[in-house]
Amino acid sequence: MADFHTELHEAHTFLKEHVHSASAIGIVLGTGLPSLGDRVAKRVTIPYREIPHFPVSTVETHSGNLIVGSWGGHEVVVLQGRAHYYEGYSLRKVTFPVRVLRMLGVSVLIITNAAGGLDPDYAPGDIMMITDHINLIGDNPLRGENDDDMGVRFPSMNEPYSKALLLTAEKAEQELGLTLRRGVYVAVPGPSLETAAETRFLRGIGADAVGMSTVPEVIAAVHAGMKVVGFSVIANVNIPESLTPAPIEEVIATVRKAESRLVNLIERFLMLLNS
Ligand code: HPA
Repeated sequence: MADFHTELHEAHTFLKEHVHSASAIGIVLGTGLPSLGDRVAKRVTIPYREIPHFPVSTVETHSGNLIVGSWGGHEVVVLQGRAHYYEGYSLRKVTFPVRVLRMLGVSVLIITNAAGGLDPDYAPGDIMMITDHINLIGDNPLRGENDDDMGVRFPSMNEPYSKALLLTAEKAEQELGLTLRRGVYVAVPGPSLETAAETRFLRGIGADAVGMSTVPEVIAAVHAGMKVVGFSVIANVNIPESLTPAPIEEVIATVRKAESRLVNLIERFLMLLNS
């Protein structure tokens, strides 16, 4: 724990000269969404491997850069790429960047991911606002000694996704004339995709989309007192009776098609946060 604390402070010390606002907005970019970082003006790009103790994603589909700059009237700190549990990282390591963002003053976190749809009404390319989540990873980033400086031992999860931020996202949706989905995201460890029986089970326990990320970051963010809004891009739709392969190339191609809609949504969301 002492080591973890020291590591957080070393990363914070390294990054703090680049972040000027005490109320910067954090953004985590998921699979197939790296170009969102291109919208950031006056940007400084820092590769994760240069930041002390940052986990470096081993997945080719994730670039690993922290980008600081301005977008939508805010200073933003963008995590372009993330580490996953399935890569072998502990959830403490997976959530390390989110905790550093908190130390940098980030209090609003926008999280994105690519997910498999479980609601049969969903279509590939849909964007889902995450209203709640289910953690089936079988682990928790807060396991072990609690960091009392960061948050309490037993943080509430009654509102992991801020209702106020959801309303702001809905306003952005209306202004842009988009139709977003609203649903529950379930996190599984991966990296194998779900069987038909698992898909049926996940739907049965109340999930609308499934993926291999996000939930650990949200738990760490809520623990540290951040407000979170989450968007899933539905890359494929999994129907137990007619389950088809979901190759990563197709997942990325579908997400790319939704990317400009998501970028516009986040930009409008940021602008509305000012008002
Ligand atoms: N399952 C789990 N994770 C995913 C999927 C899926 O079908 N699609 C994109 N990420």
